[in-house]
Amino acid sequence: MKKLISAVALLLPFFSIAAFTSGRSPANASAGADTFKTKCAVCHGPDGSGNTPMGQKMKVHDLRSPDVQKQTDEELTTINTNGKPPMPAYGKTLTSADIHQLVAFLRSIATKS
Ligand code: HEC
Repeated sequence: MKKLISAVALLLPFFSIAAFTSGRSPANASAGADTFKTKCAVCHGPDGSGNTPMGQKMKVHDLRSPDVQKQTDEELTTINTNGKPPMPAYGKTLTSADIHQLVAFLRSIATKS
């Protein structure tokens, strides 16, 4: 019995590390991608390029571009939460976890230079 308990105690940290790492970026970014497609793609395009009739009319910036990517996570979070006219605010319709995942998604589409 004592052996079993120490085996469990030994293994426990590995499970918590696995649970912790599975919540990190790649998973976040793909959850963000789903939200982006349903909420943001009308204007920003599914790839963030802004290449949509709506995006062109509103002259949205390419979200993959360095100009947009140079903003901090906080700034991108604020834009998503409070909006930036004519962009609507999402603070009431999305949770802060959703917005966090969206920011992770935005980072994942950055043009590599
Ligand atoms: C109704 C069209 C529309 C929708 C829907 C929309 N946006 Fe926007 N978004 C805009 C416009 C227009 C701007 C540019 C505002 C400006 O520069 O004054 C913008 C700007 C941004 C910026 C800042 C980029 C910059 O120029 O610095 C980010 C980030 C962004 N949007 C993310 C999102 C995300 C994430 C969603 C979905 C939750 C979303 N947008 C949904 C129209 C939209």
